Amino acid sequence: MAFLYSGGHMARTRQKKQPNFKPRRSAAKSPRRDGATQFERETLALLSEALRVLERGFASLPGGNQRVPGSRRMPAVMKEVAACLRDNYPYFHPFYAGQMLKPPHPVARAAYALATWINPNNHALDGGRASSAMEKEAVAELAGMFGWQKHLGHLTSGGTMANLEALWVAGQLHPGQKIVASADAHYTHRRISGVLGLPFSEVPCDPQGRLDTRALTELLAAGGIGCVVATLGTTGTGAVDPLPEILRLREQNKFRLHVDAAYGGYFKLTQNLHPETRAAYERISEADSIVVDPHKHGLQPYGCGCVLFRDPSVGALYKHESPYTYFTSAEMHLGEISLECSRPGAAAVALWATQRLMPLTRGGEFARGLESCREAALRMAARLSADSRWMLPFAPELDIVVWAPRAESVREVCELSQRIFDAAAKTGLHLALIRLPVRYFPSLATQDADARQTVLCLRSVLMKPEHLKWLDRILEKLDAARADADSRTPDRS
Ligand SMILES: Cc1ncc(COP(=O)(O)O)c(C=O)c1O
Repeated sequence: MAFLYSGGHMARTRQKKQPNFKPRRSAAKSPRRDGATQFERETLALLSEALRVLERGFASLPGGNQRVPGSRRMPAVMKEVAACLRDNYPYFHPFYAGQMLKPPHPVARAAYALATWINPNNHALDGGRASSAMEKEAVAELAGMFGWQKHLGHLTSGGTMANLEALWVAGQLHPGQKIVASADAHYTHRRISGVLGLPFSEVPCDPQGRLDTRALTELLAAGGIGCVVATLGTTGTGAVDPLPEILRLREQNKFRLHVDAAYGGYFKLTQNLHPETRAAYERISEADSIVVDPHKHGLQPYGCGCVLFRDPSVGALYKHESPYTYFTSAEMHLGEISLECSRPGAAAVALWATQRLMPLTRGGEFARGLESCREAALRMAARLSADSRWMLPFAPELDIVVWAPRAESVREVCELSQRIFDAAAKTGLHLALIRLPVRYFPSLATQDADARQTVLCLRSVLMKPEHLKWLDRILEKLDAARADADSRTPDRS
């Protein structure tokens, strides 16, 4: 699945505003002077053709007013916009392996843009009839991916809103009871609990960064827990909480189980997970609610999250009166089962188009793309583990690799990580940093009594299928960054 990026070199990484679009002199050495091959453009022609098809659907209307206010100034404004956007890290390029950023599929981009000519609002069928139907279909396919033939669900602006809805439902069903999530779960769970006025507790993690079920057992024994959040793919390290054991605890404790698979959900389709990780995905259909973010691994533009409920009857909790909206149909309006009101129909159209092009099937093109990401992470981890200059706290469970430079003390590791991160960015390789508890690194933990200490580590999110092909070049740059950082190590003798 190399449609997003097939090759080429970054002429530079960050660029100053260039309103006149002239290539900078420093780019002259590059074989691609103006960077014009970085972006795929064929979809612009597709969009134009699709627009004609769309317009024909409204041919019976008298001609509208085509005058665009401010049209004379538009070219200048658009050039300014493009110039502003150049001040970004190159998220689309394989040398960007930092945060969770992945370019949308061109069909998603084109379908989203096409839909904006109509600008449907999926709050009600009154405002987004076609796009609501597309949302229901696309969401049913997501539910089907997790093994649910029956479900209730809808798209949201992102993972935070989707998790908020899941925890809001948990709070409605277990009023005043505690929400618990692992120490490495996304911070949003603690914050959402606060917003909902529900008590929250953190469950410590095991040395792999997964929710520690022994600690959870102790918390459950104290009582008062209404909902356990299991994360399948933590934000920091991609750790997958042990769902089979959490489900075993649910048999005795009757809490509501919410799975936050905002990042990791789509890995359900892959066939190269570690058996323990796979075992968690095999049981995901037993959760009460699931969150998955199409705007993370689902090739969608922001914002596109999704919340799914196993029991459609929770829809009754959303019941409300609206004197304004639900008039044109007795069918279910998505606003009747969503906390957000106006929502972009365009997001549903883009998701529908992407899933139409690349269905959510095991062994399919989309799944193979994810398998490449996972393979890239496995190979990167193997190469780093075999190199005595680095240390890995644990093997990657998905496609996120976390590692640190080997050094004598926690302080030296942290300083070196920062220098390598900075040096890598100068070479055009964009990584991320993460702080992990010192106990994840046994060789460092023994030296220091303070278990609250953290180690600054390097982190790469290999979420583009192209990362696999680019791995050697990525590691070459990492080597160069390491050499640069070592050469700057202060002499403490
Ligand atoms: C596991 C997990 N949950 C929730 C979120 C929040 O999602 P969003 O940023 O789309 O609101 C993230 C974001 O990275 C995440 O990784």
